[in-house]
Amino acid sequence: MKNHTLSPVLPTRPAVLVIGGSGGIGGAICRAFGQAGWHVGIQYCLNKPSAEATLEDVIAAQGTGEMHQADVRDPSSVKRMTADFARQTSSASSSVLIYTAGIGAGSLLQRQGEADWSDMMAINLTGVFHCLRAVAPVFIERGHGSIVVLGSRAGFAGAAGQAAYAASKAGLIGLVKSAALEWGRFDIRVNLVLPGWQRTTLSQGAFPDMAGWKDHALRRPPSCEEVAGTILHLAQLKDVSGQVWNCDSRHLP
Ligand SMILES: NC(=O)c1ccc[n+]([C@@H]2O[C@H](COP(=O)([O-])OP(=O)(O)OC[C@H]3O[C@@H](n4cnc5c(N)ncnc54)[C@H](OP(=O)(O)O)[C@@H]3O)[C@@H](O)[C@H]2O)c1
Repeated sequence: MKNHTLSPVLPTRPAVLVIGGSGGIGGAICRAFGQAGWHVGIQYCLNKPSAEATLEDVIAAQGTGEMHQADVRDPSSVKRMTADFARQTSSASSSVLIYTAGIGAGSLLQRQGEADWSDMMAINLTGVFHCLRAVAPVFIERGHGSIVVLGSRAGFAGAAGQAAYAASKAGLIGLVKSAALEWGRFDIRVNLVLPGWQRTTLSQGAFPDMAGWKDHALRRPPSCEEVAGTILHLAQLKDVSGQVWNCDSRHLP
């Protein structure tokens, strides 16, 4: 593995910071931006080898990039990561933050433990708040910016056995819409994307064994590559903010 950490970025290359870049969906998003020639900041928390492999893919395509270690539960860690990324990409022609970090654990509500509830909120909801708050001054100073947060259908529909997860994802709806309203005057867009079922570490043990996927009009879950491509596209739309984009073919309540 070559040392690509904190390599200089081309002056006008657009730049994206992917929180959860070491994850399944985050990795696909990093590769989509890399293939489009972007500079990609890849955040990981514990899984450095996965972030390294993704960085190799980004560089093997058209992109440049570097890795950032951060724990989204810790505001000082998020602040340091954001400052490093901002320094690396000070001349970027476009600036994007994608938040895909997340955990998902199942528990019936009556048996839900305090610690697991708190951790779910800290990573899936408060972590987004930490990242939005840290990146806002950077994007405001640049006079542009685009933020995409990964939510879940569970945030709209609820999910039996996953109340904490559903509650954390429901909170994102209000957070994203409020940020869009506050920062629209700085030309900063903030949107929420629902990626549908994907086979990743997070969905292990929960991925539905559904013959026929009958609740999906198309009888299949979306491909991870299409979700990543949707996010690449949405992040560049100039006139869309405060919206929710569902990537699968289920009815959204
Ligand atoms: N998979 C699905 O079917 C599905 C469906 C709907 C919505 N989603 C949402 O999509 C997003 C991505 O999910 P995924 O399936 O790609 O999950 P994943 O493969 O398990 O990846 C999770 C990511 O979150 C990071 N992370 C966990 N705790 C962290 C912390 N404390 N600080 C910083 N980063 C942390 C992990 O980093 P390390 O591994 O480096 O520790 C990893 O990069 C999540 O928000 C999830 O809720 C997924």
